[in-house]
Amino acid sequence: MKVSQTIDSVREKVKDARKQGKTIGLVPTMGALHEGHISLVEAARKKCDFVVVSIFVNPTQFGPAEDFDKYPRPIEDDLKKCEQAGVDLVFNPSPNEMYPEKVITWVNVEKITENLCGSSRPGHFRGVTTVCSKLFNIVTPDMAFFGQKDAQQSIVIKRMVADLNMPLEIVVCPIIREENGLAMSSRNKYLSEQEKEDASYIYKSLQKCMEMIDSGSRETETLINEMRTILKAKKSIKVEYISIVDEKTLENIDKIQGKSLAAIAVRIGSTRLIDNFPIDIT
Ligand code: PAF
Repeated sequence: MKVSQTIDSVREKVKDARKQGKTIGLVPTMGALHEGHISLVEAARKKCDFVVVSIFVNPTQFGPAEDFDKYPRPIEDDLKKCEQAGVDLVFNPSPNEMYPEKVITWVNVEKITENLCGSSRPGHFRGVTTVCSKLFNIVTPDMAFFGQKDAQQSIVIKRMVADLNMPLEIVVCPIIREENGLAMSSRNKYLSEQEKEDASYIYKSLQKCMEMIDSGSRETETLINEMRTILKAKKSIKVEYISIVDEKTLENIDKIQGKSLAAIAVRIGSTRLIDNFPIDIT
């Protein structure tokens, strides 16, 4: 496995791989890798010949009061995990390599970035789409792999790629969960054992919603109230949103029909956690 810290070095290695006729898969990450990330690498290995993982805690997607400084950066451990997972190249640039000057050129997807996480994290998605555009331009992958856990992020990136005619395919892979149902996330590292247990109620509430939909419930208000009641059982959980939205517009809907998304964001202590499940009743 090779590790590059500079854009020139990545371009050179990708060029060599292309010369050998290899297809390129990119797994963009902010490090603190867990099984969810490894599942993305595995998916990339199945579909592409040369797998690049980027590890970069992207400052432009964090708000001023968010956890940029304390975000975990266990780089040695991450490199070991990448090596074990069969990654060909890790791109681990410094902030200065990615942003040598104050950013004045942004890639911004409108509308679908306003609801859900967009409403409490202004500027977050603009940072994500800007850094992903840069990574796509640097690595020039045929495919890039994202997790369903960040459902809104995946939808926004797909839309950006379509709108800007970027020549790559976005592959979205299923959520990987802890035994108790908690969706894997680098931020789970912030939780105590008790908080992790409490956090399992997020998935419990989503499961209840799925069951109710399977039994014919369609009114989103009823479903959301039920999820809220389940989450209320844990005092440590402060709900930021529980929403059921149209899968394409990400606008709240009153009645489920076609493809939609049930999504939750909560805080436990100072840790923000998200989860979701896609609904398809077409
Ligand atoms: O999902 C993440 O880890 C980040 O938002 C991403 C896509 C790597 C961009 O920094």
